[in-house]
Amino acid sequence: MAKSIDVSDLDIYYGDFLAVQGVNMTIRARAVTAFIGPSGCGKSTFLRSLNRMHEVIPGARVEGKVLVDGQSLYEPGVDPVAVRRQIGMVFQRPNPFPTMSIYDNVLAGNRLNSKKLKKSAADDIVEKSLKGANLWNEVKDRLGKPGMGLSGGQQQRLCIARAIAVEPQVLLMDEPCSALDPISTAAIEDLIHDLKSQYTIVIVTHNMQQAARVSDDTGFFNLKGAGQPGHLVEFNPTEKVFANPDNDSTEAYISGRFG
Ligand SMILES: Nc1ncnc2c1ncn2[C@@H]1O[C@H](COP(=O)(O)OP(=O)(O)OP(=O)(O)O)[C@@H](O)[C@H]1O
Ligand SMILES: [Mg+2]
Repeated sequence: MAKSIDVSDLDIYYGDFLAVQGVNMTIRARAVTAFIGPSGCGKSTFLRSLNRMHEVIPGARVEGKVLVDGQSLYEPGVDPVAVRRQIGMVFQRPNPFPTMSIYDNVLAGNRLNSKKLKKSAADDIVEKSLKGANLWNEVKDRLGKPGMGLSGGQQQRLCIARAIAVEPQVLLMDEPCSALDPISTAAIEDLIHDLKSQYTIVIVTHNMQQAARVSDDTGFFNLKGAGQPGHLVEFNPTEKVFANPDNDSTEAYISGRFG
């Protein structure tokens, strides 16, 4: 079941440092939302605030509201671990579990959710997820080998397989294709396209063509200068952002005339 996300007046801090300021946006269910913007403007920080991964950093906190299908994410009593189960994440740097095999890496989330998983069901999840992440053919004969023994791009696809294996309601992807070759990138974009009929997908990308190809809505983040907080400049349907943006700085960024 896909869910929509409503963000209002969100400020995100690392200790005293205000990293992202005053974000308002609605992320639609069953759609792909892309975040673009220069390095350091807070895309990853904002993404992590959507599934409560931000607060695992000591001193990190948010002010404001995030509603997932109307339910407040930051209300007292909400279990952050349960939130992270429903709102999956693929990180900017691949992070397979170092001691686990390829097979067990894919199933790591499923095993957290339910202890008992029949061998045949587990095999099916592993195959389907690895196929979805376009990794199956490369690893099907060495599923018992360590995940750390894969190349960087393969590890990234392994992490994508792990995230989709639990069929989360929302999937957050932080530059999932930055380490991938064009063939795997195309496969991941196809996967994103397939997943959006069921899920809500948010993707951070530095690749403008990718944002234009895969997303329905695009948010452009920027920052006024070093040490200043990042902020959302514009949030609109992707076609509009790329053809006729509301803001001059959006236009400058996407056309490469920036800074
Ligand atoms: N763990 C942290 N502790 C303190 N400050 C941090 C931490 N992580 C990020 N920041 C700061 O928050 C700001 C936003 O960083 P963030 O990683 O969200 O940017 P980004 O838009 O994802 O950049 P990039 O495109 O390079 O990935 C930066 O000023 C960064 O230095
Ligand atoms: Mg980032």
